[in-house]
Amino acid sequence: MENIYPKPIIIMHWITFFLVATVYLTGGNPTTTGLLGQIHVIGGISIFILFFIRLVFVFVYKKSIPQNKIINQYQKNLFKIVRFSLYLSLCVVPIAGWLALSSFTDNFKVSFLNLPLLSSVRDVQYIGELHELLGNAFIAIVGLHASAALMHHFIFKDNVLKSMLFNRNK
Ligand code: HEM
Ligand code: HEM
Repeated sequence: MENIYPKPIIIMHWITFFLVATVYLTGGNPTTTGLLGQIHVIGGISIFILFFIRLVFVFVYKKSIPQNKIINQYQKNLFKIVRFSLYLSLCVVPIAGWLALSSFTDNFKVSFLNLPLLSSVRDVQYIGELHELLGNAFIAIVGLHASAALMHHFIFKDNVLKSMLFNRNK
């Protein structure tokens, strides 16, 4: 078995990282933030679409996913919880964002296309705050995940981080 992730999964992983960083930096009410709001919504929708493509990739490449060495059961469980939370966030945070946008307006154009919105949640106050809370929790989990990857590389000196990087010797 290869000790790095298949290339399509690596590409998907780093595109997602770039999009999440962009969406986080452009956070705010898209109905008032102009171009930044457009970038936030387009980036968020792309993350949502990529989530499903990612699921297909993980299924297709199931047998080629590297099995990194487990230090102990506690570490294994933590890894599973963090990975599950990341997956959940990639799906739930954009949906909450779409609902938040629906609560602010019934007409939002992405470029020249009208984004379909849900009129039944119009003016529901707490949805924006919920999206904000979930978005910030997502970033906190990403921080934990990235710190763990860096810890593996610099402290445990194992293959975990390298397994998600392009192998330059190939
Ligand atoms: C993974 C994807 C996303 C992340 C991480 C994210 C994150 C955030 C964060 C952190 C904020 C709060 C910014 C601030 O006020 O300081 C925010 C605001 C907002 N986002 Fe997103 N967002 C995502 C996707 C989306 C999508 C797809 C939409 C719409 C289709 C959206 C619509 C909104 C709206 C309407 C607000 C304003 C909420 C309010 O002011 O109460 N977001 N987002
Ligand atoms: C928005 C940011 C990120 C998200 C959503 C994310 C998500 C994920 C997910 C879902 C996996 C499981 C494999 C897969 O299905 O692709 C994974 C694996 C991995 N990620 Fe991230 N990641 C992010 C950022 C980072 C960063 C910044 C680093 C490095 C500093 C990193 C390093 C890794 C490594 C090394 C693995 C493989 C772990 C293993 O197999 O033991 N990730 N990531």
